[in-house]
Amino acid sequence: MPNFTINGISVDVPQGTTILEAAKTAGIEIPHYCYHPKLSIAGNCRMCLVEVEKFPKLQISCNTIVTDGMVVKTDTEKVRQAVTGVLEFLLIHHPIDCPICDQAGECGLQIYYMKYGLHKSRYAVEDKVHKKKVQDIGGQIILDAERCILCSRCIRFLQEVTGTGELEFFQRGDHSEISIFPGRPLDNRYTGNLADICPVGALTSKDFRFKCRVWLLRGARSICPGCANGCNVEAHFKEEILYRLKPRQNDEVNKTWMCDPGRLEYKKANEARLLTPVNRENGIPKAAPWEAALSSVAFRLWETVEKHGPGSVAVIASPQFSNEELFLARKLADEVLRTPHLGFSSRTVGDGSADDFLIKADKNPNTRGAQLLGISEEKFDDIVRNVADGKIRALLVFGNGIADLSDAETGRLLANVPFVVQIATNEGAVSRAAHAILPSASFVERGGTFTNHAGRVQRFWMGFPPRGKARSAIEIITGLANRLGAGWKSGGEAQVFRAIAQSEAPFAGMSYESLGELGQTAGGKG
Ligand code: SF4
Ligand code: SF4
Ligand code: FES
Repeated sequence: MPNFTINGISVDVPQGTTILEAAKTAGIEIPHYCYHPKLSIAGNCRMCLVEVEKFPKLQISCNTIVTDGMVVKTDTEKVRQAVTGVLEFLLIHHPIDCPICDQAGECGLQIYYMKYGLHKSRYAVEDKVHKKKVQDIGGQIILDAERCILCSRCIRFLQEVTGTGELEFFQRGDHSEISIFPGRPLDNRYTGNLADICPVGALTSKDFRFKCRVWLLRGARSICPGCANGCNVEAHFKEEILYRLKPRQNDEVNKTWMCDPGRLEYKKANEARLLTPVNRENGIPKAAPWEAALSSVAFRLWETVEKHGPGSVAVIASPQFSNEELFLARKLADEVLRTPHLGFSSRTVGDGSADDFLIKADKNPNTRGAQLLGISEEKFDDIVRNVADGKIRALLVFGNGIADLSDAETGRLLANVPFVVQIATNEGAVSRAAHAILPSASFVERGGTFTNHAGRVQRFWMGFPPRGKARSAIEIITGLANRLGAGWKSGGEAQVFRAIAQSEAPFAGMSYESLGELGQTAGGKG
């Protein structure tokens, strides 16, 4: 393991580490544009220059490997002058339209100009070369060619990650320009990553465009709820509105990427939300206070069991819910309602498209969790049959829809049940038919864990409290169980996860601490 010195700090790094990466170990940030840890090295921006003892010229740190005894300096006047010169060069033709640029606040040019530049341009504004602005180049991306610094990250991403190669440099010299080929727009399901990796405002997100200044946003570590892959994301919100999802690095799951459909999952936290408990009286839905709603649902469930036996009640769990919520839903069904009819389905409406990269056909974030908690997928079709035959007198539905049933099928099915209760976040065919709705918190309004397709148990954190009068499903299920005489202690997701780790073999030995930020594979593997 080579030992080297950087700005006087001695550091050991693995063989083959570049100076740029090794500097991070010493807590030193070297400015860079073209380098990206998950792409090949281009070495074209020259921002990462450093002084290396015994080398006559400055070296690019992104493509210089640390050797034993090497002495590197990143904070000398020579380095500073070189970096400032590169910045001045990059800014010659830049439009400096920060006030109308979505990248402002997280732009590499702004950040390094404030740190290394602060120079006055020696170039007359009227001599700047102008290029095309606001081009819809397909996918989720708008291109502003004038802002591009020709770092080639986007080209390498499309060559090395998606293999689709839609972007290329055209023209020469100061007329060089990034563009798609004529008539060939971006054509892959990962285009949103281009806005993330573009260090400036040349490639920005069509969806996020002009919606919110980034410095007003706060972030919560989360998991994309869009499919069973469980990509690690950062959920960006302002007050109670979620604005975007950005990938969070987890090399075991999604590296630093996420898919385009997943990026739009944030909308479900904002739109068509169920925000107040509802009781339907004589077919008319009426908002109800929580106490009244929980008590009346508990009474109807109790009454059904008393009159028709536990077999007249069914619970349809949902793999959209967390491990903690599913564990309590199972306890409610098994120990409180004592019904044999508990099941779930991982089927969803839609094409179930998948690829061999991130996107999974299963569009639920926690199917594996439901399976590992022993909730039966086989029983689901039986439950639906019993409902259709009129044998179920009370049905508790978790989630916004029922498997892959269409709205019309869902409506017809639920019409067979005298009492339907729904615990969910969004309006839909179930909420239109339910006799009682208990609104639950969206994925950014609660914490918990999902288990992805590979059995990796991953935490997601609450960004802000539940909107409106929604509550966490843990609170709702506990409230129902206790009104049915269960005597459960109230507690948050951490307490429920401790109970899971104690009683469920696949989760044995796990804790929120051991999961950390990046998760752990159920069954004990890291
Ligand atoms: S568009 Fe962005 S990522 Fe692509 S070359 Fe230009 S600056 Fe780099
Ligand atoms: S691959 Fe799945 S989990 Fe990852 S971002 Fe896309 S929908 Fe979300
Ligand atoms: S980051 Fe090293 S040359 Fe661009």
